[in-house]
Amino acid sequence: MAYAGGVDVGSTQTKAVIINEKLEIVGRSLTDTGSNVTVAAENAFNEAIKNADIHEEEEGVEFIVGTGYGRYKVTFGDAQTTEISCHGRGAVHMFPGTRTVVDMGGQDTKAIRVAETGEILDFVMNDKCAAGTGRFLGAAASALGVPLGELGGVALKSSRPVKISTTCTVFADGEILSLIGKGKKVEDVLLGVHQSVVSRALSLMRRVGIEKEVTFTGGVANNIGMVTVLNQELGFDCNVSSDSHYMGALGAALFAMDRIMAGRKGQHGMAEVK
Ligand SMILES: Nc1ncnc2c1ncn2[C@@H]1O[C@H](COP(=O)(O)OP(=O)(O)OP(=O)(O)O)[C@@H](O)[C@H]1O
Ligand SMILES: [Mg+2]
Repeated sequence: MAYAGGVDVGSTQTKAVIINEKLEIVGRSLTDTGSNVTVAAENAFNEAIKNADIHEEEEGVEFIVGTGYGRYKVTFGDAQTTEISCHGRGAVHMFPGTRTVVDMGGQDTKAIRVAETGEILDFVMNDKCAAGTGRFLGAAASALGVPLGELGGVALKSSRPVKISTTCTVFADGEILSLIGKGKKVEDVLLGVHQSVVSRALSLMRRVGIEKEVTFTGGVANNIGMVTVLNQELGFDCNVSSDSHYMGALGAALFAMDRIMAGRKGQHGMAEVK
């Protein structure tokens, strides 16, 4: 049995996935990227190997693809691919009906339009501004002292969202705290924050064209408030799974498996695929 690995070194978190020849995920791991990107990549990969219960001596991981902003720091990687390609590939593999992907990470939000084959047709991403990304939600979480994992649940308790006018993460906590000072409820402010982040993501998605099915990837897809508000705004449900955070790493692992299979064909005298 051959195994392939994908390591997605994001600006905020590093994800690693190991797949088998049946293209099933057999191991995964997640760690904060922190300041030492190479070490984060190594740790994530080693944890994923442990999680997969693979014995390196007998059946190692034959090919590893790195992706994410730190992909060139995956020193043990065999090749690199962009996050756009990997999120597109992972999303189409997991949800074959996917035509639009929205990847919301710690620092970037990307809208991607994909073909049935997983080929990337178009994409856009936020420029330098982090207002429509996980960072804005993180700033709200720390300003209000709400753990990140509970942020969405708290927001969904609101029936009277407060409109957030700040468009800059740097000033977000100031506005949030001043709204609380004026007597606004935490849940109402938080629902406003979620709506503001969703509206920015939607404007990126509209630029590539929103075509069903929509698959939501990246760490922000763990946030139930974001998924709910996005679904309300779209008017239909997007695809999410417990593997959404790992979609880029999964795509990278699938590209790695392509290379393993192409190498085998090469050995049998067939044309080698690039
Ligand atoms: N359990 C969780 N609940 C809510 N939000 C979460 C959770 N886990 C992660 N996040 C959010 O996901 C973000 C990280 O997502 P991800 O790992 O996709 O980003 P990244 O790939 O490091 O960043 P980028 O793609 O922008 O370089 C965090 O900033 C946080 O806002
Ligand atoms: Mg990412």
